[in-house]
Amino acid sequence: MDIYQAAIRPILFSGIKADPEWLHQQTLQTLNWLDTGMPQFAKQWVLSKLYQSYCVGDVRLEQSLWGQRFVNPIGLAAGFDKDGVAARIWPSFGFGFAELGTVTFQAQPGNPRPRLFRLPRDRAALNRMGFNNQGAATLAERLKSFDLDHCKLKNPVGINLGKSKITPLGEAAEDYLGSFRLLKELGDYFVVNVSSPNTPGLRSLQSTDQLEPILSALQQENQGQKPLLIKIAPDLEWEAIDDVLKLAQQYNLAGIIATNTTIRRDGLQTQTLQAGKLVSEEAGGISGAPLKDRSTEVIRFIWQQTDGKLPIVGVGGIFTAEDAWEKIAAGASLIQVYTGWIYEGPGMVRRILDGLMQKLDERGLETLGEAIGFDHSPK
Ligand code: FNR
Repeated sequence: MDIYQAAIRPILFSGIKADPEWLHQQTLQTLNWLDTGMPQFAKQWVLSKLYQSYCVGDVRLEQSLWGQRFVNPIGLAAGFDKDGVAARIWPSFGFGFAELGTVTFQAQPGNPRPRLFRLPRDRAALNRMGFNNQGAATLAERLKSFDLDHCKLKNPVGINLGKSKITPLGEAAEDYLGSFRLLKELGDYFVVNVSSPNTPGLRSLQSTDQLEPILSALQQENQGQKPLLIKIAPDLEWEAIDDVLKLAQQYNLAGIIATNTTIRRDGLQTQTLQAGKLVSEEAGGISGAPLKDRSTEVIRFIWQQTDGKLPIVGVGGIFTAEDAWEKIAAGASLIQVYTGWIYEGPGMVRRILDGLMQKLDERGLETLGEAIGFDHSPK
């Protein structure tokens, strides 16, 4: 148990300021202030302390993907820093990359609060944020001012794009395209998010007829410049995933992010939320431990269907090195975390990276690259 788990988490998770969304906003504001408001000497000192505490530098963890260098495979998942306010800080917490967004073309407030709940007995969260964000133009301005290309710790930054709520589903392609045009010079990879359960109808965009115009428009604009990925829901049937994979091939996508949150409620210990409402009746997506096995299953399926040729970013319920290894061995080249980081604290990334290196040693592997899809290799 580290200091976060022993002392900080019990305070954060209880008491009058326990509202998870309030805490989240405070955290982001603090990180933004650390980057942009703190006197330079103090900032350098804090960043070096963070670096010493949380970062692992080891060539065995490095890989090159989409022509980019990932110093390690663990990224911050989309939704944590939707507006990119801490975009320059994430490398100091040990992340090998960070995915900003989901950002939409129109700025929007998201769903009414409360819209984020913890389910501690399940090591899970339920959210129905609804893409609250300041809009693609504001994110573009912020990233320009950050000049990420010239940051000392330059790790890849992904940008996750969603559809604005007010845009009809039939006009989704133009909406995604509008955001992409504003941001395309500013991200290292882009994600078409058609899997959030919290924007009405969004997940229907995963069907071939609705997805095709979006991918077509984006790739035409893109002209092969930036890796374009799609993020899928864990609740898709195998046939539906196969359909997405066909389009991924047809439109030359760079990879699949598997998975977003689930709308399933089975197997949860938690029956009621703090407000006394039944979990089974609350709208939103479940993240964290209950999602772990399903997202790994989806990764395994994608790897099998594509003979391991399409890079997969695995996300869902990662708390430990064992969880991370499961996803990598099932076929994920990169992994992302969100809920686990909330529960386990900032030391989690380093613990996982140390644990992964131990697993490489145990199996006699030289690099993490050799572990990707390890479960599928002939023994
Ligand atoms: C998310 N997630 C998410 N995903 C996405 O593509 N765009 C988004 O805006 C959000 N927003 C969001 C908010 C909150 C509060 C949570 C908990 C999650 C989903 C996230 O990126 C990830 O796919 C899932 O949470 C599964 O990973 P974890 O949380 O189990 O590690």
